[in-house]
Amino acid sequence: RTPVLLDCDPGIDDALAIAYLVAEHRTGRIDLTGVVCTAGNVGLEETVSNACAWLDLAGSPELPVSAGAPGPIAVPHVLTPETHGPRGAGHADLTTTTRAVDPRDGARLWVDAARAHPGELVGIVTGPSSTLAHALALDPALPRLLGGLVVMGGTFHGHPGNTTPVSEWNVDVDPEAADRVCRAWEDARATDPAVPTPLWCGLNLTERAVWTPERSEWLFEAADSPLARRLTEALRFYFEFHGSVGEGFLAQVHDPFVAWLALHPEAVVAAPANVRVECSGVHTRGMTVADVRGHRRRVDNARIATDVRVPGGPDAVLDEICVAIVS
Ligand code: BDR
Ligand code: CA
Repeated sequence: RTPVLLDCDPGIDDALAIAYLVAEHRTGRIDLTGVVCTAGNVGLEETVSNACAWLDLAGSPELPVSAGAPGPIAVPHVLTPETHGPRGAGHADLTTTTRAVDPRDGARLWVDAARAHPGELVGIVTGPSSTLAHALALDPALPRLLGGLVVMGGTFHGHPGNTTPVSEWNVDVDPEAADRVCRAWEDARATDPAVPTPLWCGLNLTERAVWTPERSEWLFEAADSPLARRLTEALRFYFEFHGSVGEGFLAQVHDPFVAWLALHPEAVVAAPANVRVECSGVHTRGMTVADVRGHRRRVDNARIATDVRVPGGPDAVLDEICVAIVS
């Protein structure tokens, strides 16, 4: 069973990622070792209470849930309630949880989980990289300890951003943190090429994971559970948001798609690159700049996901995620 740690900022699509990973944990496919919450889509208090509530609804065993970074490492936290709702759960009313939050902070949980499973733990990041950046400061050996790192972040190959013309939201919130992650793996791989290269899943791929009202209806009817009801209420807000920005009454669900990619590395088409994040550009702050031609003469510190090798593509992946959640 692959040990997995999720670092998230729930967030509507993060909630689907939690539901999917808990489902895979319950079937024994993975060992979900914990959930770290980072301030992102909403403030830290909300991401923690939302993660606890979604885990309760998903009927998870007592997993450690830990509060990570309360905001970006170098700039104020800018909230976007129009995207995920004022409390990060769209129209879903999440009841308060009785689950105890782990006393360790998120950076400590990253380090402890990695040390408990040296060379095996797969870290999945579906929010800003702020907590991971703190964890790297706590233990600079983290890149050598992890079995893999999969990040929902950035946008590549000229695909437009969703926050500025060139930046993706998770990276844009905390570009310094994302760049520290890039540098940490660059340094680690320069001295030890056996260190696994993180997989960066950007908008160029994740915007193809589109959730429709029909899919919500299917989930609601097939599962007939409080979890499915809350998920569909949350997703309705996400449809309205996407509709309000002219993208249609549907939702891009980046995070569960990336969680699936993390569990199915054989299905990912990816290319090596050296990635750094622009932290000072007037028009380009938050841009993920990928060197695929070796201009910088630096080692590859990333693999950029470009496609999914599955008949039916991202739609088929979302089908699988739905089936996992209801079974
Ligand atoms: C990312 O931004 C967040 O709003 C989503 O949860 C996802 O992680 C997409 O840019
Ligand atoms: Ca997210």
